[in-house]
Amino acid sequence: MADPAPLPLLRVSGLVFRWSNGQPALDHCDLEISRPGLWMLVGSNGSGKSTLLRLISGLLQADGGRVHTLLKPALVFQNPDHQLLLPSCGSDLQLGLPSGLPAAERTARMERALQQVGLGGMERRPIHSLSGGQKQRLAIAGALASDAELLLLDEPTALLDPDSQREVLVLIRSLCSRDERPITALWITHRLEELDCCDGAARMEAGRVGPWLDAARLLPLLAGAAER
Ligand SMILES: Nc1ncnc2c1ncn2[C@@H]1O[C@H](COP(=O)(O)OP(=O)(O)OP(=O)(O)O)[C@@H](O)[C@H]1O
Ligand SMILES: [Mg+2]
Repeated sequence: MADPAPLPLLRVSGLVFRWSNGQPALDHCDLEISRPGLWMLVGSNGSGKSTLLRLISGLLQADGGRVHTLLKPALVFQNPDHQLLLPSCGSDLQLGLPSGLPAAERTARMERALQQVGLGGMERRPIHSLSGGQKQRLAIAGALASDAELLLLDEPTALLDPDSQREVLVLIRSLCSRDERPITALWITHRLEELDCCDGAARMEAGRVGPWLDAARLLPLLAGAAER
């Protein structure tokens, strides 16, 4: 008998979600990611993108359907100031580490996470002295230090200037492409130029996600939708 198909890294099936005021947000939404990489979601305001990420992360509970993932998820928000809680880079990272680790392991993990996002040696830097891009990279370091393998990024560059925007995009691209333990990133964006860097992109409309396409195929569809 043939081996059963391997489980995907992430499978969202028939997800239904309604806010307590009755507002529907997800309408039997399906989505599957079968390999590590940078996967982008686009779609008009209110189409359900942020709600979907919150359901995948476990921050919200669905009214129907399922989220199945083999990966540990972590959310990265648009505004890093909503995510970074303590005054220095090191203290903030410590906060997200799994509990029960010996002190030496905590320090090693913190240093490794800072290295991975290009902030090596900045344990003592006050967070208020970081640029927007550095803050966003620190938020990503926090996710990495907590062992997350599925990064759920909700418009992570929306508040950044073009240089910082590029910094964050290049960082995530490299984490998704590295040979050892590449991560899986689901990235929401309204900046269509970012689609050039993804492994696949899909459009979300009215609480459902369309098929994964490469950016070159999705962009004309988006332009067509905007003209209608
Ligand atoms: N806390 C809430 N209470 C009630 N309705 C909400 C709440 N948050 C979002 N909604 C509604 O749920 C729907 C989906 O919203 P969501 O924030 O997921 O959209 P989005 O695709 O992320 O939009 P945007 O591109 O503007 O960020 C919208 O109709 C929105 O008004
Ligand atoms: Mg949103």
